[in-house]
Amino acid sequence: MELKEPRFTLDQVILDDKIVEELQYVIKFEQVRDKVYNKWGLSKIEKSPKQALNFWGDSGTGKTMTAEALANVIGKKIILASYADIESKYHGDGPKNARYLFEFAAENDAVLFIDEADSLLSCRINATQGAEQAANSLRSELLIQIEKFSGIVIFATNLASNYDKAFVTRIKSIHFEKPNQELRRKLWEKLLFDEDIYLPFDANNPINVEKLSSIDDICGRDIKNAVIKTAVKTAINRDVFILQKNLEDTINEIVESNNKVTGELSATEKKEIGEKIQRQIRKKEKRKYRRRKV
Ligand SMILES: Nc1ncnc2c1ncn2[C@@H]1O[C@H](COP(=O)(O)OP(=O)(O)OP(=O)(O)O)[C@@H](O)[C@H]1O
Ligand SMILES: [Mg+2]
Repeated sequence: MELKEPRFTLDQVILDDKIVEELQYVIKFEQVRDKVYNKWGLSKIEKSPKQALNFWGDSGTGKTMTAEALANVIGKKIILASYADIESKYHGDGPKNARYLFEFAAENDAVLFIDEADSLLSCRINATQGAEQAANSLRSELLIQIEKFSGIVIFATNLASNYDKAFVTRIKSIHFEKPNQELRRKLWEKLLFDEDIYLPFDANNPINVEKLSSIDDICGRDIKNAVIKTAVKTAINRDVFILQKNLEDTINEIVESNNKVTGELSATEKKEIGEKIQRQIRKKEKRKYRRRKV
């Protein structure tokens, strides 16, 4: 767990309009917080005006980055914590850790980010009685802390399902999806050509961002890794320019290795299998046709 200055600004994050709109609301809420709760007196009906969010979605889609960017816009530090900072094998320590974390955030007037929160927010099934009890007391404490908290708390999870009802009604879920082609184009542009980035491109062979962004099923982290890896290779090889082909090769390598890890088929493998099936269908149909003729 660490308390730190956010490392990202909102203009570095590429997100779909729906998320941007949700984030704008969170930011504007902070701007009018004093007016609504203090001047207009709504603190009478809500003692701890809070914003509790759950950023959920695939890995590498910008959840942590967005949390930092959000803290940055509203001028607060961020506490980057994770489920591992709260969980404890010692009975009673889990709730204590949760309390400490929220108090620490309140004392520092910081945005609280709790990563890998799936098991904190979900209903537990198939747990042993002891584990179930420990999980329940941690969840109850978490609810108490969320209720008492007057700042911004952001949970991050990769799974969507099975959240405990008590949390669903208190926490606003925001879905981070893998970027579509339009967003991939913006990501490539941002990560290759942003202000203060001086990658060596050949003016006679400009990078075709449109073509790069047609490579799909990747996340922002993949694009970032592809840019860095290509730049490093270029520097090591002492090449003069980064070429289109270099970027395409690296991102394709990343896609292949992602697929290996997840057990998914690569685009080429999918195509090959598709063609094989088509050939077999055609063969079968031919045979049927011949039989009918006989
Ligand atoms: N939407 C995005 N806009 C801009 N950059 C992005 C985006 N998504 C990912 N990136 C790049 O990828 C990096 C990793 O993203 P981040 O750590 O925020 O992903 P995450 O959703 O928190 O992943 P995980 O679930 O694995 O924690 C960022 O630091 C950034 O460079
Ligand atoms: Mg993260």
